[in-house]
Amino acid sequence: MVHTRPQPQFLNQAMVSGKPILRFIFFTHTVLLLLLALSGPAIASEPAGEDALDADLEEIEELLAVDSELEQQTFSEDAGAKLSEAEVLTRAQRIVHELNTDSYRKVIEKNEYVLLLGYAPWCQRSAELMPQFAEAATTLKELGNPVVMAKLDAERYPKAASSLEIKGFPTLLLFTNGTSQFYTGGYSGEDIVIWTRKKTGVPVIRLNSVPEAEGFLKKNHIFVLGLFEKYKGPNYEEFIKAAKTDNELQFVELSDVEVARVLFPDVAISNNFLGIVKSEHEQYTKFEGAFKRKKILQFLAINKFPLVTKLTEANSIRVYSSPVKLQLFVFAEEDDLQKLLEPLQDVARKFKSKIMFVFVDIKDENLAKPFLTLYGLEDTRDIVVAAFDNKISSKYLLEADPIPNNIEDFCSRLLSGALSPFFKSQPVPDDADASIMVVVGKTFNELILESPKNILLEVYTPWCINCEATSKEVEKLAKHFKDSNNLVIARIDASANEHPKLQVSDYPTLLFYPARDKSNPTKLSTKTSLKDKANFINKHLKAKGSISKDEL
Ligand SMILES: *[C@@H]1O[C@H](CO)[C@@H](O)[C@H](O)[C@H]1NC(C)=O
Repeated sequence: MVHTRPQPQFLNQAMVSGKPILRFIFFTHTVLLLLLALSGPAIASEPAGEDALDADLEEIEELLAVDSELEQQTFSEDAGAKLSEAEVLTRAQRIVHELNTDSYRKVIEKNEYVLLLGYAPWCQRSAELMPQFAEAATTLKELGNPVVMAKLDAERYPKAASSLEIKGFPTLLLFTNGTSQFYTGGYSGEDIVIWTRKKTGVPVIRLNSVPEAEGFLKKNHIFVLGLFEKYKGPNYEEFIKAAKTDNELQFVELSDVEVARVLFPDVAISNNFLGIVKSEHEQYTKFEGAFKRKKILQFLAINKFPLVTKLTEANSIRVYSSPVKLQLFVFAEEDDLQKLLEPLQDVARKFKSKIMFVFVDIKDENLAKPFLTLYGLEDTRDIVVAAFDNKISSKYLLEADPIPNNIEDFCSRLLSGALSPFFKSQPVPDDADASIMVVVGKTFNELILESPKNILLEVYTPWCINCEATSKEVEKLAKHFKDSNNLVIARIDASANEHPKLQVSDYPTLLFYPARDKSNPTKLSTKTSLKDKANFINKHLKAKGSISKDEL
C-alpha cells in the first residue's frame, strides 16, 4: 500500500484532455495540505524512550510466551469483540511495538513473524490505517497468533526505513524469519486479521460445533465455507489452495452438516459443498463448478462484492480490478442512495456477475470528482448514473431520470452493446460571424468530418503552456486566408470536448483536414514559422504554388 491513488483504467481517458487529472491531483494535494495545516501531525503517539521500549519488548515477549500455548486453537470466542476506539488505541499501544533505529533489526530477527507498518506522521492514510492496525493487533493477540505487530516512523528513522525498503506510506510488510513480503490484503482491522492469519499458518478456520459456528457468524460478515466429511481428498486440497491464494476472504471448513447449516441454511447434504456468505440481500451463493483452485477463485472474485458496492479509498483498487468489466456507477448523496438502494439491488440482481453496481457518495470529492469530471458534471448535485466498459475503455451516461426502470433499461443496453458512448461537449456556440469557427464535441461530425471544405483545426486546452502563442498564429492565419472560400479555420477546446475521431494527446496540436479525405488529418508542427505554416496550407489548397513573403 503506497500513498498513491489507484487509477481505474477508464480514468486514463481523462489524459486525452489532461486537465481533469491535473486538476484532480492538485485538488487532492490541496485538501491534504489543508488538513495538515489544520490538524498538525496526524499521529499522536510519541515514540517511546529506550527504557519504555525495552519494557514493551519484554511485555510482548511475555504475552507471546503465554499466547503460543493457545496457538493451536482454531477459534476464540472473544476475538474481534467490538471495543471503543479509545480502548482499542490504549490496548494497541501496548500491543503494537514502536520500532526505532536500534530496535528494528532485533525485533525482526528474533521473531518468526513480524507485521510492520511503516508510516509518516503527516500521512493521512497512515493515520486512517493506524486504528485498524491496532484493532487487528488486539484480535490477533486474542486469537493466539504468533505475529508481532510493529510500527516504524519512517520520517523519524529514515535509515531504518530505507534498509527495510519502506518507500511509500503507509507500507505494510510481513517478515517471516527476517524475509519480507508485501501486504496484499484489505485495509480494515478484520481484513488485516484475515490476511495475517493466512500467511502465518492458519489459512482456514475449522468450526467443530454449533456454538462455535454461532459465535463465528456473529463476528464475520463475509466468508467462504467448505463442507468436507473427512478434510481430505483432491477437492479439499483445491479448497485449501484457494484459501491460501486468496488474500482477503476468511475461509471456514466444517465436516458436520448441522454445523454448516448455522452458516448456510440450504447447505446441500453432500460431501464437498462450497459457498460464500455475505451479510446482505444476496446472502448465500453456492459454488457450482468443478473443485479447482482457479475456478473457486473466479467464483469468489465475482461473488464477493455485495449487489451494490460502496466505493471507498480502501476498496477502490479491488473495485477497479474486478473481473466484472461492465460497471454501473451511481453518484448520489447518502440520503438519496438509502431511498434508491433496495430497488437498485433488485436491478443489480438481474445483472449479477455481468454488471457490477457501485455507489459513490457525491459529496466525497476525492472519489466522485475524477469520475464526474469525465462527464463535465463536476459541479452537479443531482444523482448521476454512469457506466463504464473497462474492456474497451468506453464511458456512458444515463440521460433519462435515474429511476429503477430507466436504470434497468440502461443496463440491458450496456450489456447488449446498444448504448452510444458518451463524449464530452460544450453547448453549441452561436458564432456564425467569427473568423475562427468554434467546434465542440457535438458539432465535430457536422463541422469537421462532413464539411466539404479544407479545415485547419487548432486543438488547445485553457491550461496548456504553449497554446496561447499558437492561438495568436492561428488568428494571423485566419486573417491571411479570410478570402479563401475553400478553407475553414477552426478551434476546439479539448479539455471540454471529446470525439472518438479526435485522438490528440499533446497541446497545442494543429490538424489539417483535406477537403476530400477527412479520415487522415495531417499534423502540422506548431514549432515551424508562421510562413512555413501558411506555405503548408497553401500547398494543400492548391496542388502547386506557394506563398510569397509579402503576403504574410
Ligand atoms: C522460522 O525459523 C524457525 C527456526 O529455524 C523454524 O522452526 C520455522 O519453521 C521457521 N518458520 C517458517 C515459517 O519458515
